[in-house]
Amino acid sequence: MTERTCQAIILAAGEGTRMKSKHPKVVHELAGKAMLSHVLALVKAVGASRCDVVVGPDMAPIADLVKREVPDAQIYIQTERLGTGHAVLAARDALEAPADDVLILYGDTPLVTSRSLEKMRDGLANHAAVAVLGFRAEDPGGYGRLITDSDGNLLAIREDKDATTSEREINFCNSGVMAFDGKSILTLLDSIGKENAKGEYYLTDAVEIARNRGDKVAAIEGSEDEVLGINSRAQLAEAELIFQRNLREKALAAGVTMISPDTVFLASDTELSSDVVIEPNVFFGPAVKVGEGATIRAFSHIEGAVIGDNVVVGPFARLRPGTKLGKGSKIGNFVEVKNAEFGEGAKANHLAYIGDAQVGDAANIGAGTITCNYDGYQKHRTEIGHGAFVGTNSSLVAPVKIGDGAYIGSGSVITKDVESDALAVARGKQISRLGWAKNMREKMTSNKPKNK
Ligand code: UD1
Ligand code: MG
Repeated sequence: MTERTCQAIILAAGEGTRMKSKHPKVVHELAGKAMLSHVLALVKAVGASRCDVVVGPDMAPIADLVKREVPDAQIYIQTERLGTGHAVLAARDALEAPADDVLILYGDTPLVTSRSLEKMRDGLANHAAVAVLGFRAEDPGGYGRLITDSDGNLLAIREDKDATTSEREINFCNSGVMAFDGKSILTLLDSIGKENAKGEYYLTDAVEIARNRGDKVAAIEGSEDEVLGINSRAQLAEAELIFQRNLREKALAAGVTMISPDTVFLASDTELSSDVVIEPNVFFGPAVKVGEGATIRAFSHIEGAVIGDNVVVGPFARLRPGTKLGKGSKIGNFVEVKNAEFGEGAKANHLAYIGDAQVGDAANIGAGTITCNYDGYQKHRTEIGHGAFVGTNSSLVAPVKIGDGAYIGSGSVITKDVESDALAVARGKQISRLGWAKNMREKMTSNKPKNK
């Protein structure tokens, strides 16, 4: 591992018009997280001590996202879009005292692996002034081509529009990800001109300029999947497919059973322990952890939840943010849980809404139980004690406490706290009138007009 320091500049000034969206391209999500956040995480993973982002004018949502996730990052505005070389120079101030390694990444290329970046950094450590991440393209049209000599040494990058017919046949392409030695980056960037087909400052020209100065350059080969750039919704979906496949493969390798992996959607931060079983058609949003031996049954939707060991969730359960399920607890079909903690072995097996609540160990929540947590203005809490039994179709009007071991009669509307071990019944009293139904039937039948 290299001892060299590292910084990154992420280019995100592209307008992303092909997304047909009012939101900037790089805030669109992949596996529950903005594309740009994936790139920010990647930069962190390779140990960059500084990360700056170049955006276009009117891109406040990007600046907000960056400030939230990397508070000490600088945002640089490229007022005119004059090419990738020009974009990096918009962050010139970030290069005043450059790190040993300067990584240039695109905000719309979120699948790049830290392994490839490390290989590029190794290239710099071996005295290259520039390292390029290349890939073999199935269809190279549109990409910059890596021009190499007969020994495979990189000579230059030729943009598609500037390439000769024979250069266009090369399928070794530029991903756009480049790494520069901090000592020479500004000299190289300042030497880039715009005498080319697009009239733009091409960052890629740095390769030929470095070679002409007698500097070493390096080309690293990555996979076509990792360098997929996202310009349209179709490419966003394609990237999602690749990302999901990688996440599923990792989960399977870590000892998770998925009966139908292709139907399980994971978030980039989903944590699944070994011996978790996931049935078909389950969706995980951000911030979910699942403990050993838990089973997530079919058609469940889960986000922001910590699920303990040996818990069973679903089928058709909905767990919303703030859910914590203790060991061996059970959330059954058509149960929604939000901001609520279930103790060990607690159960809500059917048709319930438990929100803003604490449910004690081994408590049993009957079918149709609703915590009435919202009065139209504020949310209120419901506390249910250990071993309490809440009969079916009960409404618990919060704020309210049900003591340990208390028993709530079915159909109750509970508005007052219930003492431990007490029985609370709050419903209309049942009355019976002997013979009433029979009398009514006879009377109604004799009065009924004859059908014509
Ligand atoms: C670029 C590369 C090309 C490579 C391809 C990979 C250059 C000259 N070409 O071409 O070799 O094969 O990416 O997809 O670098 N950007 C700015 N400001 C600008 C221009 C671009 O921030 O003025 C950003 C864009 O937001 C985008 C990235 O840089 O994230 C690449 O820009 P794009 O216009 O897509 O470059 P390509 O022509 O595709
Ligand atoms: Mg492009």
